[in-house]
Amino acid sequence: MVQASAPGKCILFGEHAVVYGQPAVAVAIDQRMTVSLEISDVWRIDGMRFSPERHPHVESLKQRLWANGPSLSIKVNGDIPPASGLGSSAALSVAASAALRCARGRQIKDDDWGEGWTAARPNAVYTGPWDVEQGDSVQTGKDSVDVDECAILSHAVEASAQGGRASPLDSSTCSHGGCIVLSDKVESDLNWIYSRTLNDVSWEVHAVDLPKEIEDVWLVIGNTGIHAPTSEQVAKVARLLENEPGRMREIETIGIISRRGIAALKEGNMEGVGRAMSENHLLLRSIGVSCSELESLISAAAPSSLGVKLTGAGGGGCMIALTRNPKETSEAIELAGGRTLISKIAAHGLIVESDDNSPLWNPFE
Ligand code: PMV
Repeated sequence: MVQASAPGKCILFGEHAVVYGQPAVAVAIDQRMTVSLEISDVWRIDGMRFSPERHPHVESLKQRLWANGPSLSIKVNGDIPPASGLGSSAALSVAASAALRCARGRQIKDDDWGEGWTAARPNAVYTGPWDVEQGDSVQTGKDSVDVDECAILSHAVEASAQGGRASPLDSSTCSHGGCIVLSDKVESDLNWIYSRTLNDVSWEVHAVDLPKEIEDVWLVIGNTGIHAPTSEQVAKVARLLENEPGRMREIETIGIISRRGIAALKEGNMEGVGRAMSENHLLLRSIGVSCSELESLISAAAPSSLGVKLTGAGGGGCMIALTRNPKETSEAIELAGGRTLISKIAAHGLIVESDDNSPLWNPFE
């Protein structure tokens, strides 16, 4: 059996403003998705017959990594609530791409990848497969899995499942873990990892080194249980800016607050991070993406927190509280009618959890 897991994510700063080029900051959370694979007589997912329509991300990965491969039984487990802005589909895609890669191995030629997607070359090109020659080898198990490749694949399949539109924020955070910043330019004070381009839009993806002070704080995530599609919230902001172009000032202010939040994070100034989160929320409310249910969870969490805000697209979905008292904050949110999850900041990214190091399928034979 092959098994891999990947974390969910939440956005600390910059949602909506990132659509207009401002930086957005996401962190991986402790809640994860785990995917395991075994050879099977027919394609199954969680014991049921596999349906490409119900599982477009897995279907898309299957076509990219497992075309002509033998049937698999896929099991998906996890504690990331679906469709709530916490990256459940990206986490599933990252874990599934790692498990499929691990289960098939990778052709290697002179220390170079013979087959796969690499971020090291412009626009994440596909290399190989080459005809197998003497001197080529096949890398198997964990060693054949590459985090960048899983991020690329996850971004590609998310985009195809969402009609061509997806930023790499979820896919990069759920594969690399930690804290990821997306911007329209290279931010000189952060660790730039790679550029991503999709349908003429480009993003620069960075990682942030976090100090030990993050060990003393928690994120409490409060879920309203209301499903508000991201596309509708993004369209709502676009209409506002079209009707009132002066409101772009608020988008730019979110960018300024995000940069202040990143600086506070790097310094380990958790009070500063919390203040920036709450300020960010006031602007999100002002551009119309909060709702009364989010506001009541936010008011309930505020007295015991360093900072509170909605996270993701808004209109429903989730809020987050940065707190030193996770139990107290979580109880307050639950009393106000929200369901909660507790996470440390910046969880581990992709993990290959078990591999017997013999591929389930050798496509190079
Ligand atoms: O709810 P999520 O995690 O899909 O976040 C949406 C973030 C937006 O900035 C609102 C949209 C986007 O594409 O960046």
